[in-house]
Amino acid sequence: MKSNPTWQTVRVAATTDLTPTVREFVLQPVEGAAIAWAPGAHLQLRLNVAGREQHRSYSLVGLPAEVPGAYRIAVKRLDDGRGGSKAMWSLAVGDTLTASAPQNHFALSLDAIDTLLVAGGIGITPLVGMAQTLVRLGRRVRLLYAVRNDAELAYAEGLRALLGDALVTAVSARGERLDLAREIAALPAGAPCFVCGPAGMLDAARGAWSAQGRAAADLRFETFGSGGRLPTGSFVVRVPRHGADITVPAGESLLDALEAAGVEVVSDCRRGECGLCVVDVLALEGEIDHRDVFLSEHEKRENRRLCACVSRVVGCVTLDSAYRPDTEPDRTSGFALVS
Ligand code: FES
Repeated sequence: MKSNPTWQTVRVAATTDLTPTVREFVLQPVEGAAIAWAPGAHLQLRLNVAGREQHRSYSLVGLPAEVPGAYRIAVKRLDDGRGGSKAMWSLAVGDTLTASAPQNHFALSLDAIDTLLVAGGIGITPLVGMAQTLVRLGRRVRLLYAVRNDAELAYAEGLRALLGDALVTAVSARGERLDLAREIAALPAGAPCFVCGPAGMLDAARGAWSAQGRAAADLRFETFGSGGRLPTGSFVVRVPRHGADITVPAGESLLDALEAAGVEVVSDCRRGECGLCVVDVLALEGEIDHRDVFLSEHEKRENRRLCACVSRVVGCVTLDSAYRPDTEPDRTSGFALVS
């Protein structure tokens, strides 16, 4: 069960390969124009993954005026991912798909004089428009951009032209690393930092941020829920309330598998940010790979709840469910809904 976005049919108007693994898509609504959005916003797309409709979220890139009336996203092809990127890469110009209205859980603060942006890999996508907006407003902005190799530096040329030395890249294949602690220390007190990248980068930023005594509210995260601590493999999930015993394949999220089995779970962002899909863990044989940025580190260590949209398990997990069949109206749910 999803939150309630407005949906529209969009056509693939253009594609551009930015790197060997990152493809940009311009999506043009079939009727009317794109709905107004601000940097940090994302679209949900309905995709055919493994023969079933599944939802994936992609950040909008740049500024609306750059593609008047349309949307622009960029998708990194992940052969061991949840299948959404492969579905996107199979689309050709002229194909249609269904997109939500833009949603924004990662809104930029326009009041700050100084802002630090930190991107890991494809996490650059929401930060491009943020950097453009801040420069346009005359604010000071510094963008740290880490990738594995030079070929993955999508949008770097335009960002270099925009930001000059305020763009700092770190290519791990060349032994380069971002010095997050130093960069955060150089940020004026009260200035915000926006981070979009894999879980490890978010953890590092959070650690450096709190070690310097900065307010947690000034550090904003977005992730793409693809990377975790543990290998991505199939696992078993049991939902006794529904009599469900499901094997979640490597290419599918727990949330998608639950929905396909008729277990309703409230969801929204589907990338580990909003917390709507949090479910209670009743039993665990194995290990949970928490890949969200919603639960606290303490909650993750406790393993009593997990975000079904991105987190995975090595082994077997037993869950409670938020929604009960109509035949069991008097039973009390132990499911944690976070609003
Ligand atoms: S749907 Fe938002 S955290 Fe899972």
